[in-house]
Amino acid sequence: MRGRYNRTMLVLGIESSCDETGVALYEGGAAGGRLLAHALHSQVAMHAAYGGVVPELASRDHIRRVLPLTRHVLSAAARSLADLTGVAYTQGPGLAGALLVGASVANGLAYSLGVPAVGIHHLEGHLLSPLLADPAPEFPFVALLVSGGHTQLLAVEGVGEYRLLGESLDDAAGEAFDKTAMLLGLSYPGGAELSRLAEDGDPARFRLPRPMLDSGDLDFSFSGLKTAVLTLVRKHARVSELLTPDIRAAIARAFQEAVVDVLTAKALAALEATGRRRLVVAGGVGANKQLRERLRFECARRGVELFFPPLELCTDNGAMIALAGALRMDTGTHEYAYSVRPRWPLSELVVPR
Ligand code: KG4
Ligand code: ZN
Repeated sequence: MRGRYNRTMLVLGIESSCDETGVALYEGGAAGGRLLAHALHSQVAMHAAYGGVVPELASRDHIRRVLPLTRHVLSAAARSLADLTGVAYTQGPGLAGALLVGASVANGLAYSLGVPAVGIHHLEGHLLSPLLADPAPEFPFVALLVSGGHTQLLAVEGVGEYRLLGESLDDAAGEAFDKTAMLLGLSYPGGAELSRLAEDGDPARFRLPRPMLDSGDLDFSFSGLKTAVLTLVRKHARVSELLTPDIRAAIARAFQEAVVDVLTAKALAALEATGRRRLVVAGGVGANKQLRERLRFECARRGVELFFPPLELCTDNGAMIALAGALRMDTGTHEYAYSVRPRWPLSELVVPR
């Protein structure tokens, strides 16, 4: 487990790109390692009253949480700051002020300890997060990244070797879940709640379109689906209070079926196009039960290996940032950085060799 450093690597990871402060400790590197501890503070309740994330409130809350969470993970893992060999933080994409909190704390700590501070791309964290599962996938694999801000299919050859196969041309899958949840009167972010509502829905009652299912490429589009839900909602009630519980549940079911159909079909097409036999799913929508079940069924039929991160590591967390930091440092493909990149396409990820 010793990398190019002469002691076992121990990386602190800090995630603060949006509305979750995540801190974690990962020990080891490319040849193997383990998550020693992770802790999370979600700001969801604080932002719920506003129907979305308020950036200034998010930054201030990250400031309050990040050091207590750091103390917590160190104590849970029975380690001290002096044991750290590096500090990784989410450099982007995300909210500028929120990112700056993690970047500043990480760099301050790293500088005072004389260890490297490494900026990590948030999506790289997500797409490597299935490596925290047991068993963990081996490279290469196809990754289906389905978060609140992104829907992408990637060919992953190794750490830092990512090729974009297709992505959403408009709304991300998670964003579509959240907007649809809002139309059904659920609170923000409504993906998980919509999924629970869908469980009681009659699958035969409504059928929604499957956007770009037959487009012949690996891109997605979800904004039309949200408009189709709006049309259904308007048809059944002028104001949402008049939507009966079973109509709401049936709409949620129809929406989820459509998204799951498209995500599954495109993920299978990506496997076919690349000849890969391994699929990993990451990002918040990867927690969706119906998506997990469908992919499990389809992959088993085709003899494709399927991996998910542990359920609590599907959504934003510090563990994936600590892991990505450890892998980057161990493979010598890290950059020392004290900057944030609020807009940062994964395709621009430069791998220094
Ligand atoms: O990856 P993530 O935590 O944040 C981003 O980086 O965007 O993903 C959050 C997204 C939200 O849109 C949330 O509604 C969605 O993941 N989500 C779900 C479920 N749990 C979280 N969507 C569908 N079903 C779920 N069970
Ligand atoms: Zn995320």
